[in-house]
Amino acid sequence: MQTQSLTSTNFYFQNQTSFYRGKVRDVYGIGNDKLIIVATDRISAFDHVLPKSIPFKGQVLTQVANLFLDLTSHIIPNWKISNPDPHVTIGWKCDAIPIEFVVRNYLTGHAWRVYKSGGRVLCGVNLPEGMKENDKFPHPIITPATKATSGHDEDTSYEEILSKNIISKEHLDYLYQKSIELFNFGTEYATKQGLILVDTKYEFGIKYGQPMLIDEIHTPDSSRFFYLDSYEQLQSEGKPQKQLSKEFVREWLMENGFQGLEGQLIPNMTEEWLVNISSRYLELYKAMVGKDLEKRSYSDIYEKIEQSILLGISSLEN
Ligand SMILES: Nc1ncnc2c1ncn2[C@@H]1O[C@H](COP(=O)(O)OP(=O)(O)O)[C@@H](O)[C@H]1O
Ligand SMILES: [Mg+2]
Repeated sequence: MQTQSLTSTNFYFQNQTSFYRGKVRDVYGIGNDKLIIVATDRISAFDHVLPKSIPFKGQVLTQVANLFLDLTSHIIPNWKISNPDPHVTIGWKCDAIPIEFVVRNYLTGHAWRVYKSGGRVLCGVNLPEGMKENDKFPHPIITPATKATSGHDEDTSYEEILSKNIISKEHLDYLYQKSIELFNFGTEYATKQGLILVDTKYEFGIKYGQPMLIDEIHTPDSSRFFYLDSYEQLQSEGKPQKQLSKEFVREWLMENGFQGLEGQLIPNMTEEWLVNISSRYLELYKAMVGKDLEKRSYSDIYEKIEQSILLGISSLEN
């Protein structure tokens, strides 16, 4: 059977002032200060949107992010106002700071690739000698990246952000502090669920002069997770960790000759593969949230989403 998924939306709402199609999300501006974000089932890797979508992925992203936005609002205010539909969040539109605040507690992914090729400084942060892939750092580090309007995100550093006057020192110090507090919260939560929060990224924006947490948080797209119970054993045996994140998609693409470089072809995503990746997202949801995702129905999905959004907008006005 053909899988069903939500690849893109094309609504037009009253008071709609802008539309932006991100790699994964469709972002509608409403009036001057609100956004409706539809997390579609699109999947991206190496900054490329893959040609097929993953059933339930947008729902997993939306619901995990909303859970953590609610749980962390005592640490820093965030953009969320409501979650009117399993794929949709309504919230405050902020002036997005074009930096991804990447927090890492393990030598994994990009950090490992830099380390393996001899690098011992990442984004201005010194990396300890003698580490192997997936080892834990003495404490979490922040390795920021610029959020490019087009093309690839690039590594930057605390010093470079300041020298380019991207934000004030006061705001940068505050957001470094908050990124660590959010990460510690995520780590404690994950530990209770038997998971390790390996690394993640946060985005912030400014609203009325105040920094706010925006975008998604602690989702399988923005974070890596390992299983806690098998971590030590696998590490001591020098084996790969069991991945609960998008890393398995990146690995599959690399094994099939795609690393996002020009001229490389995205390998064929079979129905079986889509179902397999979807089940990974569902597994992660269950592991993080502690219960199965209540899978939404895909029949008449556009009408349903539009109706939920209209209701969500009307309750804003009351
Ligand atoms: N509250 C907000 N205010 C302004 N911009 C936001 C807010 N929340 C998320 N965004 C932006 O909306 C977009 C979400 O779509 P996404 O698919 O992640 O796009 P991208 O490909 O740019 O990462 C991102 O560019 C993100 O920075
Ligand atoms: Mg994004």
